[in-house]
Amino acid sequence: MSKIKKLTALEILDSRGRPTIKTTCELESGATASASVPSGASTGQAEAWELRDGNMDRYQGKGCLNAVGLINSEINDSFSGQEFESQNELDRQLINLDGTPHKSRLGGNSILSVSVAFARAQAVEKGIPLYQHFSEMLGQPITQFPRLTINLFSGGMHAGRQVPIQDVLIVPVSGNNYDEALVISMKVYHAAVELIQQKFNMRWLTADEGGLSPSVNSAEELMALAVESIQHAGLVPGKDVCLALDVASSHFYQDGKYFLGETPLSSEEMIDKLCEWADKYPIVSIEDGLSEEDWGHWPSLQKKLGSSILILGDDLLCTNPERIQKAIELKACNALLLKVNQIGTLTEAAEAYRLAKASGWQVTISVRSGDTEDNWFSDLAVGWSGDQSKAGSLTQSERLSKYNRLLEIEKTIQYPFPVWPEKGE
Ligand code: PGA
Ligand code: ZN
Repeated sequence: MSKIKKLTALEILDSRGRPTIKTTCELESGATASASVPSGASTGQAEAWELRDGNMDRYQGKGCLNAVGLINSEINDSFSGQEFESQNELDRQLINLDGTPHKSRLGGNSILSVSVAFARAQAVEKGIPLYQHFSEMLGQPITQFPRLTINLFSGGMHAGRQVPIQDVLIVPVSGNNYDEALVISMKVYHAAVELIQQKFNMRWLTADEGGLSPSVNSAEELMALAVESIQHAGLVPGKDVCLALDVASSHFYQDGKYFLGETPLSSEEMIDKLCEWADKYPIVSIEDGLSEEDWGHWPSLQKKLGSSILILGDDLLCTNPERIQKAIELKACNALLLKVNQIGTLTEAAEAYRLAKASGWQVTISVRSGDTEDNWFSDLAVGWSGDQSKAGSLTQSERLSKYNRLLEIEKTIQYPFPVWPEKGE
């Protein structure tokens, strides 16, 4: 049982310089902890609502003073002095207090900051690391350290839309542990920086998640450049390092067509394009290959590629158990991209996780493009034995705080670092 003494919130800035929320939870026992929440840009339509002030004189309407005010008043008044047996009990009360389907009254951002601050305060109270507490909350022991997927090149909404697709990521598959995988990834990142300087005479400019954004003419050029970067680093594409794509195709889908190149593609043609890429490049995971509105064609994509690579749903699923259930029934994909703030509480994210795992899916645990220096993400990725982690690129403190926390965790516990299945296995 943990009794809440006080909840206090503060408006802080995220990595894009936009406001977000940091909440501190003080328990009656004296255990106190804070948590900050991230924010997306390439958001899915079914995500929990963020409460923003709308006052155009402050931060272009994106201020969080109303949300902060609600935590300091209504939420604190309702929760202080109350005892909670579990995270589930606290989160259910938050959901009920909000009373709307998409958390639009109190805001998913306010609710999540309270949810995570409470979890962290409970870990402090119990005197255990946060990852251990997350594992106990899920009711499952930690079995593995998540594999890395690291943003190398960016386009779409996170860069200047020079190409429509959002990310080409590297997946270090030959590292035997997290530290080795990180070293391999950094070699490729720096090789890419060097190649970009040589080929495009470009300075080291980065997109929202720290990915490099050379001025290429097509998405495929980025994939070819990623392969070249792996080779330039003295590594073997497909053996040492594979690729993953976040196509984020909802953002270039309109009236049933995909605006990927000069000629708009039908859903079938888009699937053919993805198959062509998967054939030509060492791709092991494709996220949002089709639009969140194109439910009817996801099963065909899953059928064509799902036996050899991850068909990962981000905007499609929005970490929402109802949407995941629908995708399981339709056989629409085989992996969940889990972003806790898409759904708004740890309890509902755990439900999403359990549902995906029970269907034999893989789970990639992810940050957002607007993130903070807080690193509870890393404890979650380990505590819930995520199959993959996705924290952006290897630069910018809001990203490195996640990788550095994983290094700290790896020093204290040794869980197997799973081998990525061979293509076709
Ligand atoms: P977002 O993008 O955080 O801007 O929504 C990340 C992603 O699409 O994976
Ligand atoms: Zn995505």
